[in-house]
Amino acid sequence: MQEKKVFYITTPIYYPSDNLHIGHAYTTVAADCIARFKRMQGYEVYYLTGTDEHGQKIEKTAREKGMDASDYVDGIVKGIRELWETMLISNNDFIRTTEPRHKEVVQKVFQRLFEQGDIFLSQYEGWYCTPCETFFTQRQLIDGKCPDCAREVELLKEESYFFNMAKYAPRLLEHIAQNPDFIQPESRRNEIINFIKSGLDDLCVSRTTFNWGIKVPFNEKHVVYVWVDALLNYLSAIGYLADEEKFNHYWPANVHLMAKDIVRFHAIIWPILLMALDLPLPQKVCAHGWIMLEGGKMSKSKGNVVDPGILVGRYGVDAVRYYLVKELTFGQDGYYSEEMLVSRINSDLANDLGNLLSRTVAMITRYFEGAIPAPGVLESVDNDLMKTAQLVYRDASEKLEKLDFAGYIISSLKLVSRANKYIDETEPWLLAKDENKKERLATVMYNLAESIRIAIILLSPAMPTILERANRQIGVFGDISRVTWDEAGQWGLCPAGSKVKKEAALFPRIDLKTLETTENVQQDKKEAVKPELKASEGPDEKYISIDDFARMDLRIAEVIACEKMEKADKLLILRLKVGAEERTVVSGIAKHYSPQELIGKKLVLLANLKPTKLRGVMSQGMILAASGGEELEVLMLDKDIPSGSQVR
Ligand code: MSP
Repeated sequence: MQEKKVFYITTPIYYPSDNLHIGHAYTTVAADCIARFKRMQGYEVYYLTGTDEHGQKIEKTAREKGMDASDYVDGIVKGIRELWETMLISNNDFIRTTEPRHKEVVQKVFQRLFEQGDIFLSQYEGWYCTPCETFFTQRQLIDGKCPDCAREVELLKEESYFFNMAKYAPRLLEHIAQNPDFIQPESRRNEIINFIKSGLDDLCVSRTTFNWGIKVPFNEKHVVYVWVDALLNYLSAIGYLADEEKFNHYWPANVHLMAKDIVRFHAIIWPILLMALDLPLPQKVCAHGWIMLEGGKMSKSKGNVVDPGILVGRYGVDAVRYYLVKELTFGQDGYYSEEMLVSRINSDLANDLGNLLSRTVAMITRYFEGAIPAPGVLESVDNDLMKTAQLVYRDASEKLEKLDFAGYIISSLKLVSRANKYIDETEPWLLAKDENKKERLATVMYNLAESIRIAIILLSPAMPTILERANRQIGVFGDISRVTWDEAGQWGLCPAGSKVKKEAALFPRIDLKTLETTENVQQDKKEAVKPELKASEGPDEKYISIDDFARMDLRIAEVIACEKMEKADKLLILRLKVGAEERTVVSGIAKHYSPQELIGKKLVLLANLKPTKLRGVMSQGMILAASGGEELEVLMLDKDIPSGSQVR
């Protein structure tokens, strides 16, 4: 039977409580990359994104702005749609949870689950974190605050509907065991398995304390819990209960992509809801890491967000997308900085890729009057280049299949580097001096054009305008809308005789010194709205304010491993557990402590110090120590305070 070539991929639907930042853009661009890759492979792709518009937080934000929730979200959603257009996101649909097509599905599903006994009415008491839209038990709180975002929580008591999750836990565990790819990466999978095994409480699936939501159809006092409402977007968008043919065509989803913050909702609540509805489960729930800024995770409330629209305006859409796709090592967090963005553009795109193209175009223009010559006999260096192209094609395809975005870019770039090295090895400028070597020169030029053709195809899902821009200079792609992924796997498709033409650089070099950085721009904006200081509030050199102190994120960290750094007699490398997170810190205390003395100890860590490389190791924070004369003592704790706790 022929494989059904349909591919359904989703991003989370984002909260339109404020404008989105590069963290959201990361997921959306990464998913777009897969959507474009699959289309190039001949799949009929349905790429869905959208907005999650209900809930207490949005209601509150709108009220604070003196607006109606629905007017408020309309404005933000308009900006989000424009942002995705600017970033050339090729989504096939954009779902809003306020749309009738979605509301109807949510109400029908709720009704069905109630009628079949999965949902029942009871009393709820718990701590609610409004920004996270999540309830916690007393036990789950850290320092009386939300364990996820460390903000204030409020005690809520209400009559609520509940969903019996435990009933489905054994089936879910079995599904996870039988489908090792269901939750990616593996670290998340293990985390989810442990969570399920620790026992699933009944899930509270309705609220009576606010109105901005979808009403429970048989009890209008209640609105549906925003996560149940939101998750169902993956069904309502493709016609569940409305257009059976469309729904059966696309469901089950191939990939739900998101960051690790919401993987539990997607890997536990979502499959359980689907089981209760007798629907097949999605193929893959994949969670990438976070893009962090110096001060920790980017968040609107911290005011440290980076606007992707500004970056696109400054560096161009291909370059920003390229940077994002390459930024996060599979499953891990990464740090954003504008310097890094510029350095990647300059080294990978302007130097390596851009120069390869411009040098090749210049040589073909000079030596062959601008027409790509036919190749002659191949030598071993040519075969090596060809082999690299084939290996890179296979590896980049595999990495994309596995959603290893950075791996895919790194792999594609290997062909670009190999081709640049090939120029040095074959020395075409010397061949050009000898009329007898014309055929050899022709072969070299052809092979270069061929490598460029393949590299550009491979990079095009990440950089959607690159095919068209390169085609203007090296016209080997023909009708760019028909270029397939397969073509990158075949050597020799470049039609001899195709014309080349010199144009402006694909990626001009950027001089960071002449740029105002985004951080500066945002700082300027903040300065502009800062009210003037009153005399009594003026700066006082001697004191810092409590706010200054609060900017330091001091945490308890447990040493789980420690070793001496090679060839550095003062440095130790410590592996620390800080709550659920692990960090590496390099510290100059090797003269005072042996690694064994520190393992198992609890120390104080300045967790939001800008990460820096020390002797090649990235140090993510600083541990505190007291020093007097020759003596040095690391601050340690006697009582059993859990790691991750705040120090104030
Ligand atoms: N509305 C829910 C999702 C419901 S899906 C049924 C939600 N919205 S959100 O606006 O908070 O978006 C969270 C998602 O945005 C993350 O899972 C991730 O995809 C993306 N990111 C937000 N900040 C991010 C970073 N700093 N880094 C990487 N991704 C980030 O949760």
